[in-house]
Amino acid sequence: MSSTTRTVGNLLGSDENTADEIRSNGSCSFQAILPHARKAGRQERVAPISTHKSRNKLWVAGIGASAGGVQACLKLLSQLPRQGRLACILANHQRMDGQTELLARQLARQSLMEVCIARSSEALQADKVYLVPSGKDCTVEGQRIVLKEPARDSPSTPSVSRLFCSIAAEFGRHAIGIILSGAGSDGVSGCRAIQAHGGLTLAQDPACARFNGMPGAAIRAGLVHHVLSPEQIARQVADTICPPVQGGGLPEILDTVHRTTGIDFKGYKPETLLRRIHTRMLAIKSPSLELYASRLAHDPAEVKTLQTHFLVSLSNFFRDRESFYALQDCLKESLAGKSPGEAVRIWTPGCASGEETYTLALLMCEILGPKISQIGVWIQGTDLNREALASAIQGSYAAASVKEVDPPWLDRYFERTGQKYRVREPLRSMCRFSFQDVLTDVAPTNLDLISCRNLLIYLNSEVQGQLMRKFHQALGPQGLLFIGPAERVGLVGHSLFRPVDACHRIYRRRAA
Ligand SMILES: C[S@@+](CC[C@H](N)C(=O)[O-])C[C@H]1O[C@@H](n2cnc3c(N)ncnc32)[C@H](O)[C@@H]1O
Repeated sequence: MSSTTRTVGNLLGSDENTADEIRSNGSCSFQAILPHARKAGRQERVAPISTHKSRNKLWVAGIGASAGGVQACLKLLSQLPRQGRLACILANHQRMDGQTELLARQLARQSLMEVCIARSSEALQADKVYLVPSGKDCTVEGQRIVLKEPARDSPSTPSVSRLFCSIAAEFGRHAIGIILSGAGSDGVSGCRAIQAHGGLTLAQDPACARFNGMPGAAIRAGLVHHVLSPEQIARQVADTICPPVQGGGLPEILDTVHRTTGIDFKGYKPETLLRRIHTRMLAIKSPSLELYASRLAHDPAEVKTLQTHFLVSLSNFFRDRESFYALQDCLKESLAGKSPGEAVRIWTPGCASGEETYTLALLMCEILGPKISQIGVWIQGTDLNREALASAIQGSYAAASVKEVDPPWLDRYFERTGQKYRVREPLRSMCRFSFQDVLTDVAPTNLDLISCRNLLIYLNSEVQGQLMRKFHQALGPQGLLFIGPAERVGLVGHSLFRPVDACHRIYRRRAA
């Protein structure tokens, strides 16, 4: 018996800017982190298993939930729009028979997608949520659902990991694993499989989960790409699967945004912008790019929302932790010759809410030790997103944001205030934040390091080349350039910088 009630409510109504464009260029693939290596203090990254199955058009999200998970799931499904590309399978640990119908009805009232109870051999369809019935495990084979008897030694039913592993194997880069509130640790090996096949893993922020066991276990194992609230997870999923919208009108839209906000996005990759425009169109139910363009001409509030949507200000401390450790080693060597009074100068353009800037301040304290007071360190974080900059100045962060900070450093450099972690002195006085367009405003000079991470991927190759020239001029003779793992310095960059650690994208300025 399947329940197929559908409720259409508000689509993505909020204008908060949280999603990161992690798949903005085809070359960026996810990497799995082996937990045993993390325990040893460092993460070991493995290349994803290549899969031809991701050519499949359908995306499949497995949702794992247990105690406290229903509320989270309701929030998630009430924000996840119908895009004709995603099927969801919900594995919610249930204790009693008969709960399934009740839960399906409850979910159907909130969900924007059709909700039904999963049946064996049923073909997966986009815009449907399949609820695994109580007492059964669920896997996917080809495009079909297969219900199975639970393994005898399985601690909970349905098994989240069993579901995720099968989605990973069948859907590769089109597999998404979402871990919501729940006790225990089901889902960890499933997240590992999804990451290994190049898919995306998301966990509910333990700080807002009623039971943090399941998301916490996956996060601690280093197997989660993003830790977010259920609403933010919906946004992240929608952005990841959203195709760029087709049709004319982009130049008009960019002109309107430029006139209204002063920010010129013409140098950004059109596919990325069109993908973000598409999510806004879905949110306000605008049927075509042309109609959306004319709406923008009369709706400055929507222009502002779109602009913050273009600026993907998601960050966390020690994002790509291994790379920061590699940078620490390079900086130690590079700064060894600094004499007292010769300040270290660092610039982090596109700093978002400051996590990267403070991470570098922390590393400088560790590298220089007591010498720091004689040498002096100046770190400038700049961005176009005023809200993000205000948070950077506040310097107060959620637990999810500091999850990659080593515990002794967390104690030393952060002060816990309620649920938040506030950056302490001396990090605060080393960092300055200001509004600046990295493309058009004047850069600081004589820098020891430019850390520009996860910004270049949004720009077209011509503008990337211009930035490389700007960075070359801004750095001192021995200056280092540190970019994100999905980014390349490109042809211009190669002529101006030589790799110091190519794997971690650390480069040194070549003589002019
Ligand atoms: C994905 S975030 C990266 C944050 C941080 N660098 C990190 O890697 O964690 C990209 C940031 O670049 C900023 N940005 C985009 N275009 C910019 C520009 N032209 N000038 C300055 N900042 C820009 C966005 O506002 C956003 O905060």
